[in-house]
Amino acid sequence: MTPLVDTFGRTHDNLRISVTDRCNIRCFYCMPEEGVKFEPKEHVLTFEEIERFVRIAVSLGVRKLRLTGGEPLLRRDLSALVRKLNAIEGIEDMALTTNGVLFAAQAQELYDAGLHRINVHLDTLDRARFQQITRRDDFGRVMEGIEAALRIGYNVKINAVAVKNLVEPDIVPLARFGRENGIEIRYIEFMPLDAQGIWDKGKVLLADDMIAMIEREIGKLRAIPDQDPRAPATEYAFEDGIGSVGFIASVSRPFCLNCNRIRLTADGKFRYCLFAIEETDIRTLLRNGSPDSVIAAAIRQSVREKWIGHQINTQQFVPPPRPMYSIGG
Ligand code: 5AD
Ligand code: SF4
Repeated sequence: MTPLVDTFGRTHDNLRISVTDRCNIRCFYCMPEEGVKFEPKEHVLTFEEIERFVRIAVSLGVRKLRLTGGEPLLRRDLSALVRKLNAIEGIEDMALTTNGVLFAAQAQELYDAGLHRINVHLDTLDRARFQQITRRDDFGRVMEGIEAALRIGYNVKINAVAVKNLVEPDIVPLARFGRENGIEIRYIEFMPLDAQGIWDKGKVLLADDMIAMIEREIGKLRAIPDQDPRAPATEYAFEDGIGSVGFIASVSRPFCLNCNRIRLTADGKFRYCLFAIEETDIRTLLRNGSPDSVIAAAIRQSVREKWIGHQINTQQFVPPPRPMYSIGG
């Protein structure tokens, strides 16, 4: 089988699967505070459907998986899905993005099922600001989740969304916390994916500004040589040799030209871009008796239609019709 190459020569081997659009917290840059419209249960793919889709994707060259949400740990018995996916020959890497609130209780079970890598979403080490951002008082539980992950031996990264005039006081403490615990902090520039249309460019805390803050307070950073050009984060090591930080600078340094990612939403829609406007209905194909070849052809067709990239920095930019929690990040 030829791999999933688009018209710009990008090969897609990295699949992000959202297992639910539900979430137990309400980060303002993703969800509205109240009245979130979730997908009805019957629209959400079953584990069997997800497994079948992944097998087809692997036959097309997918090698890396990431499970996302909403909050993926809200999906009952997630470790059963991890075990199924881990058993698929061809999968070389599996990771999970979680807000960490429910992680401590499930950490060992997930590890035993074959998950060894997580990204925990955490913007601040300050309980009050955590509550301000997420509208929930769960900071302590997230910390317990991180501790459990480190104790068990997970490779842990932290995703921190960088919103200007809000998290400036958190940038340096997070970097220090990462250095002390062997965790890479990845600062993600605030992207126009919130549910309430609050994004504007002036609210983005830019990677260069964060780098300056960290260098001023902690010490010099040096870009790590020979990074995978397809990884969205630009990584820097501290010059003293202790730890590193990463920046996902979607706004100030778009990395679309190196993109290797495709996405499946919880309700079974295939997306060639986080910001895609159009999507392909895989759920119907999974449920109407279509053979694998038809689903494979639908994936190929969507990748062929993939655009050059988001146009966040242009006047033409149109935010996607779904906010972050219903895409999966
Ligand atoms: N901009 C940038 N990152 C976001 N995330 C959620 N909403 C946004 C946004 N508007 C991040 C969270 C989550 C990851 C999937 O995306 O950190 O962990
Ligand atoms: Fe939940 Fe993640 Fe959205 Fe926060 S960013 S509300 S943790 S889905």
